[in-house]
Parts: sequence; structure tokens; C-alpha cells
Amino acid sequence: MTFASGLTTGHQAGAHRLARYRSEFPIFRDRIYLNTCSLGALGERARNKVVEFVDLWQARGASAWYDVWWAALSELRGRYARVIGAAPEAIALAPSVSVALSVLAESLDYVRRPKVVVTSLDFPTVAYQWLAKRGRGIELVVVESPDQISVPVEAIGRAVDERTALVATSHVYFTSGAIQDIRAVADAAHAKGALCLIDAYQSVGQVPCDAPAAGVDFLTAGGLKWLLGGPGIVFLYVRAELARTLAPAIAGWFGHRNQFAFEPRSLEWHEDARRFELGTPSLAAIYAQLGGLGYIEEIGVPAIRDVTAALTEDLIARARAMGLRPKVAARGEDRSAIVMLPMEDPADRVRHLAAAGIIADARPGHVRLSPFFYNVQDDYVAALERLAAQSRH
Ligand SMILES: Cc1ncc(COP(=O)(O)O)c(C=O)c1O
Repeated sequence: MTFASGLTTGHQAGAHRLARYRSEFPIFRDRIYLNTCSLGALGERARNKVVEFVDLWQARGASAWYDVWWAALSELRGRYARVIGAAPEAIALAPSVSVALSVLAESLDYVRRPKVVVTSLDFPTVAYQWLAKRGRGIELVVVESPDQISVPVEAIGRAVDERTALVATSHVYFTSGAIQDIRAVADAAHAKGALCLIDAYQSVGQVPCDAPAAGVDFLTAGGLKWLLGGPGIVFLYVRAELARTLAPAIAGWFGHRNQFAFEPRSLEWHEDARRFELGTPSLAAIYAQLGGLGYIEEIGVPAIRDVTAALTEDLIARARAMGLRPKVAARGEDRSAIVMLPMEDPADRVRHLAAAGIIADARPGHVRLSPFFYNVQDDYVAALERLAAQSRH
């Protein structure tokens, strides 16, 4: 049998056209890695860029800032921008989604619009931004999911009103892997004059994402998972008009238009998204991301999606055939490469897999498997066989 992507079964089990990249990810020499939705595997290109950074640090110290490291920051903004179809000026760098959201959350006017709408399936750090502001009169509305897989956009629309400042939700839910229609979410928010923020940490790199075309106001994602850059580097996309007009109530010198004037008496914002940046970024993380992004750019997200969709559909079909009951979206086009397998004691299952050299992930009530372009069919077949055998005992 051959899939549209070229994934084959039978004696060539696991072969597909992107499997040639696998040799650049050394973890596969002695492990089966199926946990990209938690942390992308380290590729040689990311490692080499980090080594380049420490070599520069060692050889040149601070003098590397002016001609090399400064340029690395704008290079990364530009390359992040291209992945989501945006202009470089729309990108601010931050060390984590939580920090990016903190600056954004301090930029909104809650006087006439004290409400923020999230869903029960979003990563909790999104909700925490606004729960932390309850003492200031901010109300958080959590729209429930009827099936723990997705949230009907109509339900989000019903929760939005003239008192809503922001709808903040995910592109791909970390809880189910389901892909949300972010254009429809943005429309629902805008229909009542609210803004729309998308946490795309679980989507950018594995499924196509065009922030300007979707009409969202803000979108965040970063290195940790599907962009293969490791921890410590994310971006915040800010729609052009907002990037020129919003004034965050927390600030750092990287947001200042003329930061090297060292002028403490006035704060003049950058005329672009850099006004959302705070302090000195982690250059090691930036270098790792520049290296990891090389894979994503060279292959292209549509080609990655093609291969990972075939792997995911095959994984789901095989899991079902083994008597497991994956919790995934009903339609293939709404599924990403995160597959939730409902199981008792998932942490114990994941420990057993790890003992056999298979790295998977546990979430409450589920084992999570997340194949990426460097995975092959044999990887998840090995994981599923162990999980199914354990379930029979
Ligand atoms: C969807 C999503 N958002 C946010 C985070 C975490 O964000 P932060 O960078 O603040 O740790 C994760 C997981 O690490 C996630 O899966």
C-alpha cells in the first residue's frame, strides 16, 4: 500500500520521502522518539548553530554583538515571519509564550471591555494571564468543549460580547491535536469588536499557518516543539496597526526605538512589533532556532504536513485495529500529528515505553504520540504494540 505522501507499508515499512532527514537527528541512533509535541528532537543543524554561538562568545566576547548577534535577531524575526506569511516588522521575540502573553495582556484596555474568552482545551498558561488579573476586575470566560476534542466556534461566538477585550485560543489543541479554524475564531471576535489571539505553539511547523490571511490580531509560537529550536525562544506576531499603536504597560529597553541613547526620561516605542520585546534575549536559544528552522524551511510546511498526515492517519488506523481508541477529531483534515490514546495510568505506560527506548508523553488520562517528518511507521508500530500488549494484561 502506498500513501499520497509516498509512505509505504510492507517490506519497506516506514519509508517516506522525508525519512532521509532522520540521520540528522542523533536521538534515533538508540531511541524511538515520538514526543515532538513536547520537545522537538535536536537536529545536527541546531546543535551546530549553538556551537557557532559559543565559539563566537569565546573568541570575541561582547564585540560579536554589533556585527553578528544583532543581525541574528533580525534574521530570526524575518525567518519566523516567513513561516507564518507575515512581514518581519510584525514579529517580536520573547523567551516563552507566557512572557509574550504577559506583554500583550498588559497592552489591552480593560476599562470598557473587562472580559477575556478562552476555551477549556487551551494550554493553561493562556488563561493564567487573565486569572492573575482578577483582582483588577478582569473576567475570564472559559468556553467548554462538549467532547474534549474541539470547541464549536458558535459557542465561542456566543461567549463574545461588547464587553469582551480578547478571544484567546489555540490553533492546534494540545489536549486533542484537533486543528481549530482560526479564521472563524477571528471573525467571531471581530464581530463584537474584540481582538483575537492565537496560541499556535502546537501548529506552526507541523501544519500550515498564515496569520495575516487568517485575520488574527496576535499569534504566538516558537522553537520548543515543531520548529525544532528547543526551549527559550518564541515569537509574537502582532497585526501591523496594533504593532504601531498599542502601548504595553510593562516594558524593557529592547522595546525602545532608540535603546542605545540610554535615556531614562522618555520611552519611545519601536514603530513595529519590537515594542513588545523586553530585555536581552537568550542568544544560545536564538542560534538553536536558526539551525532548527533550516529543516522546516528546506522541506516546507506543506510537505511536512503531507507526510505527518499520512503517518498520523496510519497510526490512528493501526491503533484502532489493535483495540485502542484514539481520541481524535472526526475528520482527517481537522487532525494534526498529536494522537491522544486514552489509557489508565498514562505516566506508568510512558515509563514502560521509555524503558524500551521509546519516548512518548503522558497527559491526564492519555498517552500522547506525535509523529513528525523524521519518524517512520516502525516507530509508532513499536509503541502501539507495547501499549496494546500492556492493555491486554
Ligand atoms: C499550546 C501551548 N502553549 C504554551 C505552552 C507553554 O508555553 P511557555 O513557553 O510559556 O512555557 C505549551 C507547552 O509547552 C503549549 O503546548
